[in-house]
Amino acid sequence: MGSHRLIVLTIILTVPTRLGYIDVHFPVGALDFDHILTLVGTFFIAIYTPIYSLLKRRRPEKLKVLLNIHIFGSLISFLFISLHYAGETAPRTGEGLALYIIVAILVATGWLYRFNLIPENAKKVYPPHFNRWFHISLITAFYIVVIIHTLKRTGILF
Ligand code: HEM
Ligand code: HEM
Repeated sequence: MGSHRLIVLTIILTVPTRLGYIDVHFPVGALDFDHILTLVGTFFIAIYTPIYSLLKRRRPEKLKVLLNIHIFGSLISFLFISLHYAGETAPRTGEGLALYIIVAILVATGWLYRFNLIPENAKKVYPPHFNRWFHISLITAFYIVVIIHTLKRTGILF
């Protein structure tokens, strides 16, 4: 499945989940289904992104496949994280909302960069190198907030 279809699938599943037509918040063993999904997605992003950054410099000949895994894996993760966001029964007003916004901007900036989508006349005010910088620097916010969120919501901290 290509990146575009994956994004369409994410929207098709997330919107009805957010509106309450699809339930992803049912228990599977000790965890809720949406928590299992978000754990997989969050771990993939948290672990593969630094590996990708390291390997793309050490093995430049593998850049294409490394980048494809980065993009495809991050988009599947975004699907899983979106279902968790949309399926949560807790009010979405905490650090989880901030985290979702961070991940959504990561996906949007990555998308603009990958498909070279910044229009010519917008490049003066929003140049691609700034978009790339924005994409990469947001990973810091992702790590800080995801650690706080996981520790808080699992009751380990706070
Ligand atoms: C990027 C990843 C994630 C996003 C965007 C996200 C988003 C959210 C949102 C929006 C909420 C509702 C409360 C709030 O606004 O703070 C929430 C609650 C919650 N999240 Fe996450 N989350 C993510 C990752 C995780 C991970 C890795 C876990 C670990 C298991 C987790 C476990 C929980 C739990 C236990 C709750 C509260 C459930 C409840 O009280 O019913 N989340 N999350
Ligand atoms: C959602 C989680 C994501 C995170 C945390 C993330 C983070 C990063 C980081 C840190 C880099 C820099 C690697 C390096 O040069 O050392 C990078 C590169 C890149 N990302 Fe992402 N990314 C995410 C999703 C995406 C998505 C969904 C796309 C495309 C649709 C994308 C497209 C790209 C591209 C094209 C590069 C290469 C930039 C370059 O080497 O010039 N990313 N990403």
